[in-house]
Amino acid sequence: MKSPQRILLIGAAGRMGQAVIGAAERQPAIVIAATCNRGERIDQRINDCDVVVDFSNADATQEICIACTRASKPLVTGTTGHSAAAKALIEEAARVIPIVAAPNFSIGINMLSLLARHAGDLLGESFDVEIVEAHHREKKDAPSGTAKRLAQILGGRKTVEVAIHSIRGGDIVGDHTIIFAGAGERIELTHRASSRETFAIGALRAASWVVDRPAGLYAMEDVLGLSRQ
Ligand SMILES: NC(=O)c1ccc[n+]([C@@H]2O[C@H](COP(=O)([O-])OP(=O)(O)OC[C@H]3O[C@@H](n4cnc5c(N)ncnc54)[C@H](OP(=O)(O)O)[C@@H]3O)[C@@H](O)[C@H]2O)c1
Repeated sequence: MKSPQRILLIGAAGRMGQAVIGAAERQPAIVIAATCNRGERIDQRINDCDVVVDFSNADATQEICIACTRASKPLVTGTTGHSAAAKALIEEAARVIPIVAAPNFSIGINMLSLLARHAGDLLGESFDVEIVEAHHREKKDAPSGTAKRLAQILGGRKTVEVAIHSIRGGDIVGDHTIIFAGAGERIELTHRASSRETFAIGALRAASWVVDRPAGLYAMEDVLGLSRQ
């Protein structure tokens, strides 16, 4: 029998870290072999894993990228709020190791991206596009990485800027609505995450997928086979 895939989980004590631990317990093919929390050195825990999964903070990016490239370990990062410099570090590391970087691992939101891309193409410039996102009050970054990614997908095809509106409150796991507003009508595409389990399951799927890939920077669309749709 194939031995389970060993994960080093960074940010294990956090909301997403706990969700990943819960999801991994229900998957016999995966084991959380080691964990890393703030103040613990990644390079001291990385050797006995097959893949690193990160749900921590953007300020950990440099340490994570250095540790993964030195140890030649694939990386799945779901952390959001990266600066341009941190994004450059991820791109540089992806020349050496395979990395899946995704602001949202849920299947539904990746389907929403696909629908939004098609809707944006079909509706054209006569419809204004706005994004509304809502998250729990503890979320550190705004707008959400998912909203920024949706704006990038939609804005790349239009000359107008796609505005993002952020709401923070209570325990909202993550809502995203794309509004296409035309003259006398509008279309709204909404995704609502009701549990972090969906992100955790997607991240574990990405971890299983990335181990056999060549070096490169991949998105969740690549993992799900949606990038060519
Ligand atoms: N891609 C997705 O599908 C997805 C879904 C949900 C959330 N996210 C993103 O994932 C990240 C974590 O979200 P969350 O809600 O789990 O946040 P959280 O509850 O604040 O958890 C983050 C954890 O990481 C720890 N941490 C911070 N810096 C660290 C470091 N350098 N090394 C190791 N651990 C470190 C934090 O410790 P302290 O508390 O001591 O700072 C905390 O325990 C955020 O960027 C969020 O936007 C992504």
